[in-house]
Amino acid sequence: MKNKHIKQSMPSVIVRNEELLENASLKIEAITDNIIRIHTIPNDKDYSYVSFALDDSLEAKGQFSVSQYNSTITATTDSITVKIKETLEIDIYDKDGNLLCADCKPARQEIDKYTQAEIEQLKQEGHMPDTLDTSFKYKVTKRIIGNEAFYGLGDKTGFLNKRGYEYIMWNSDNPEPHVENTTFSALYKSVPFFIVHHENCTYGIFLDNTYKTYFDLGCLDAGSYSFAVTNGELNYYFIYGKNIKEVIKGYTSLTGRSPLPQLWTLGYHQSRWSYMSDEEVLEVANNFENYNVPCDAIHLDIDYMDQFKVFTSDKERFSDLKQLSSKLDERGIKLVTIIDPGVKAQDGYYIYDEGIAGNHFAKAKDGSVYHNAVWPGDAVFPDFTSFDTRSWWADKTKYLTDNGISGIWNDMNEPASFNGPFPDDVVFAGDGKARLHNEIHNVYGHLMSKATYDGLKKNSQKRPFVITRACYSGSQKYTTVWTGDNQSIWTHLKLAIPQLLNLGLSGLPFAGVDIGGFGANTTPELLSRWIEACCFSPLFRNHSAKLTRRQEPWAFDEATLNIYRKYVKLHYKFIPYLYDLCYEESLTGIPILRPLVMEYENDKNVINCNDEYLVGSSILVAPITDQGAVARSVYLPQGIWIDYNSGKRIKGGRYILYKAPIDVCPIFIKGGSILPVYPDIPNLSHENTQRLIVEFYPSDDTENFNNKTNKSCYYMHYQDNGTDFKYQAGEYNLYKFSFSSNRPNGLKAELTKNGYKNKYKHISAVIK
Ligand code: GLC
Repeated sequence: MKNKHIKQSMPSVIVRNEELLENASLKIEAITDNIIRIHTIPNDKDYSYVSFALDDSLEAKGQFSVSQYNSTITATTDSITVKIKETLEIDIYDKDGNLLCADCKPARQEIDKYTQAEIEQLKQEGHMPDTLDTSFKYKVTKRIIGNEAFYGLGDKTGFLNKRGYEYIMWNSDNPEPHVENTTFSALYKSVPFFIVHHENCTYGIFLDNTYKTYFDLGCLDAGSYSFAVTNGELNYYFIYGKNIKEVIKGYTSLTGRSPLPQLWTLGYHQSRWSYMSDEEVLEVANNFENYNVPCDAIHLDIDYMDQFKVFTSDKERFSDLKQLSSKLDERGIKLVTIIDPGVKAQDGYYIYDEGIAGNHFAKAKDGSVYHNAVWPGDAVFPDFTSFDTRSWWADKTKYLTDNGISGIWNDMNEPASFNGPFPDDVVFAGDGKARLHNEIHNVYGHLMSKATYDGLKKNSQKRPFVITRACYSGSQKYTTVWTGDNQSIWTHLKLAIPQLLNLGLSGLPFAGVDIGGFGANTTPELLSRWIEACCFSPLFRNHSAKLTRRQEPWAFDEATLNIYRKYVKLHYKFIPYLYDLCYEESLTGIPILRPLVMEYENDKNVINCNDEYLVGSSILVAPITDQGAVARSVYLPQGIWIDYNSGKRIKGGRYILYKAPIDVCPIFIKGGSILPVYPDIPNLSHENTQRLIVEFYPSDDTENFNNKTNKSCYYMHYQDNGTDFKYQAGEYNLYKFSFSSNRPNGLKAELTKNGYKNKYKHISAVIK
């Protein structure tokens, strides 16, 4: 037995085992000391890999020091040790030799194999989704060592902790109600990243493979979890971190972070499929003013277009989009329009003609342009893998920006299709390599968002506002997301919390659900509880489907309107705090809405907490999500919490019973918090955002706030013009707020970075 030193230091190790891996080798690369990439490299000389998710700037910066003992190779970075066995199994240890992650053989193999005929029969009867395809090319199985919890995986249904369930990544427009049924678990987004958290360690796995992939997190076998690819290469990252936040920082250092949004995008958005004319839109805008409900955006769904032709408008119903947007602008409201990828196949329609002439559409196997159907009927689909096509599409967004449109909502980009799914062999040859639909499907929405982002940036010079339904890892760099077609049912209100939290844990912090529910008819009670539950949602939009009951704030009675107004105003009050969280997120990837486990990792009570969330680290929201309920149990973690509704101080580390009649959402502020807020404002125009109030919530209302618990409290607040990219050249301010009883109003405001000229006209303080 020899302990052989291969080389002192190297960025990667390549191993081969022809019996196990016939035509490829396995490359283990140190991206950083904490991030390891494990990748099969086919023997094919022409192989080159392009990631759709990663930032262009990614470089492998880590170094392994490598040794070999018998047939096991040990590669060590400054923080982890990777042991690669002859069997190609990989075990990873921390610096102290604790096992973090280990490959294993599953205790149970696949459930009985079905014949193709049986599978077809099951599909016909609807017992098996079209997305199921268990012919894996590579599958990795890892041990569940102890009490691991699993978080992330994007918009998947079910609970915060994904342990015990299995999931498919295959972007799907599933019209059925989205429930936790795992066989049918594919939704609109594919974010093949999850966090494994247990008391001794936390790490993330990012499987960067755009084909259909599978995740089994202790479902088939309680002692292991696995992930599998159906095609392409095995290509995953092990991301080590001291805690969940460190893992998210690592993941977003690879895939990118949501850039700072325009300030108005954090305001309230009103949508409906569809507002049918400019008069109707103006009436909606007037109602916001008349009923004193703040609003920053109205969305136009597909009916604003001429026969659903993208980059056109119906001149009869919307005679002058530009005039409409300027009329709304006078009221401080922006106009956002939907754009789908399906282009109506009609000679003489300029987008179709240009697309054909420019070779911009995806092709069928025989080289002809591929057709399917969506809203406009017979349609063709841009090949967004092509740089030229993305630039062409980006230029087309000028039609909208020239008409005063402030944001673009990208829909149906899974891509959805009405004439059956796209065959796997539809060709996307845009980047010079003929890639088939089965490889591009999961990044189609991602690439469309990228094109839209580039277009808005070029045309407006402002921070682009894009919303998308379908996306992939890394889409956060270009777009915000919403969770698609939920329904006006209580289970979907409940689902909103784990879904938004897992999106944040998956690098997509600027997310929202359709408030009030999209499909089916909402009720006054459901709408009231929905606006309460989502009152801190970064994307804050009410949207509903055609033929459903109207659900604008005034659509019901006075009492519902009053509740709705109260929570929209609450949202506006805390926008300076939400914007600070956006700033923090843009630097770190740490989400705005956080599961309790992110801030209280060692508290066993919060591992499975599905019905509460934190906004940053200072605000805890525990909404009512059950029909008829007027009280609920709330878990408050360690510390002092201030009941936002009554001002009462409550000791945490326990469950309390909280009474919450229909107009009350249980909200708690962490003792010692300093929070920047706005006074009562109707929208986020420049004039309305010139006054700031700094609220201080001392832990103890009877004691002087200079006491021990509050002494070290300070808060950093970010301010810029909320619009363009000047902040990147240093045009922003950072304020350090702290409180002391020596000053008249207690507040000390220091400008620690002074780069933006338009300072607040007035800053006042309130001690709560
Ligand atoms: C899709 C979208 C929905 C939109 C509708 C019409 O169902 O998810 O939000 O209203 O299409 O465009």
